[in-house]
Amino acid sequence: MIKDLWYKNAVIYNLAVGTFMDADGDGIGDFQGLQRRLDYLHGLGVTCLWLGPFQPSPMKDDGYDIADYYNVDPRYGTLGDFVEFSHACKQRGIRLIIDLVINHTSDQHPWFQAARRDPNSKYRNWYVWSDKKPSNADEGMVFPGVQKTTWTWDKEAEAYYFHRFYEFQPDLNTSNPEVQAELLKVMGFWIELGVSGFRMDAVPFIISTKGPDVKKPKEQFDMLRMFREFVQWRCGDAMILAEANVLPDTDLEYFGDDGDRMHMVFNFQVNQNLFYAMAAADTRPLVKALKATKPRPATAQWGQFLRNHDELDLGRLDDEQRKRVFEVFGPDKDMQLYDRGIRRRLAPMLHGDRRRLELAYSLLFTLPGTPVIRYGDEIGMGDDLSLPERNCARTPMQWSDEPHGGFTKSDKPILPVISGGVFGYERINAARQRRDPAALLNWTERMIRMRKECPEIGWGDFEILPTGSPAVLAMRYDWKNNSVVIIHNLDDKPKEIALAVGGVGESDRLVNLLTEDHSDPGDDGKHHLVIEAYGYRWYREGGLDYLLRRTES
Ligand code: GLC
Repeated sequence: MIKDLWYKNAVIYNLAVGTFMDADGDGIGDFQGLQRRLDYLHGLGVTCLWLGPFQPSPMKDDGYDIADYYNVDPRYGTLGDFVEFSHACKQRGIRLIIDLVINHTSDQHPWFQAARRDPNSKYRNWYVWSDKKPSNADEGMVFPGVQKTTWTWDKEAEAYYFHRFYEFQPDLNTSNPEVQAELLKVMGFWIELGVSGFRMDAVPFIISTKGPDVKKPKEQFDMLRMFREFVQWRCGDAMILAEANVLPDTDLEYFGDDGDRMHMVFNFQVNQNLFYAMAAADTRPLVKALKATKPRPATAQWGQFLRNHDELDLGRLDDEQRKRVFEVFGPDKDMQLYDRGIRRRLAPMLHGDRRRLELAYSLLFTLPGTPVIRYGDEIGMGDDLSLPERNCARTPMQWSDEPHGGFTKSDKPILPVISGGVFGYERINAARQRRDPAALLNWTERMIRMRKECPEIGWGDFEILPTGSPAVLAMRYDWKNNSVVIIHNLDDKPKEIALAVGGVGESDRLVNLLTEDHSDPGDDGKHHLVIEAYGYRWYREGGLDYLLRRTES
């Protein structure tokens, strides 16, 4: 078994440079500010940072509209600052991955400008054009309600161009070998500057066939292998984490049967069913999703997450399930987005209820895969629904109770810091929580520490254990002669369960990894447990000495 697949057991933390920490006082977060906060992140225990896009951009889609792949937006600093920062990560043993937004560029990118100006430009064919408006121009919008079409007339080019996302994001003609060569160059560039890989944006669209005559786009999965090989040739332990909200029957196409495509893929299937499970206290569809996404090559890994920088997409649930999640977590129209999702942050969705937050995080840390945390969730930050679309959940990090939450000395932060009320920076901030041993921040730190001591979760095989109650999820992970048993009660009432554990432990005792509350089986060989409302248990099978036993990873 290959031993240094670091992403199999990482704790990934996602942040946007512009809203994390402002060092130069212009109201916009920057690399120098982020670097000053690295010890905070190191202390929290995260092992990998995922940075949202920070390249020069008109910022019409939070940087997902790139105008130069080979630079840092001057608002955030310089390439030199980036390299200092990536070095500082390395010094602390923190890996760095960055967003790779290559399905489209900004319409301000010089390639697009050249392409639209001159039909003979070498860049013309880097984009996707049509003389006539394609008949399916009003289909396939990624942002329904906000985006009206996928083909827009360009006066200068005198042609329509294709854009799967907003109209200012023309799709690159990713089937063009010249474009592919350039995209590999982009990857090689950032690898040389110290990144350990990429979160690849919008993967199904990157590999899809594009053009006016394409009625049913087809995914060209071989491209994934090309990306992976390139990354690994340049840097042996670099990885790609794919954003691909796809159905389980194509998962293996993304991972590759032999594990020769994407190293990691976000598990949207589990994410959506997890929110349904929490809304309805019914884990049955979640169990189905876990089983459906179980097959994957040994070297591949799921990225598990709760919330991210986008809306909580519920498009894969059935109508009844989606309705239920809307009712519980996003009842007002204003909390919903693109006819399919909820745009709120985690803590307000869960009414700031500490028990439910712990439950959600405990689930995240123990689902099969590698957990991906969103900045600010470790202190329970809220959202600002007065901001448009997804910006409501992208407000600046709340560091202290100083003005603007200590994020900036400027009076004009890039986005307003949440102030006043239950989630305002005056109450919810990192400085205050650091001083309080019982705060969510310190709880999260402890959970991350324990997650690292359970490599079984990242590496092992899992089995769902029957609990007799749809509200209670029990799982056992086995790896290298160790087993951990994880139990969650998603209901607001206590639940009594009788659990037949099985597994590989040498003793029948279940050692509680978080408290002194261990469990021995009854005469019937089962563990009789009462799990309190929203309660969770992490056990390791075997005698007490197993508690400190550090298995290989
Ligand atoms: C991805 C990103 C999203 C962005 C879109 C277009 O879905 O997560 O934030 O708007 O791609 O690049």
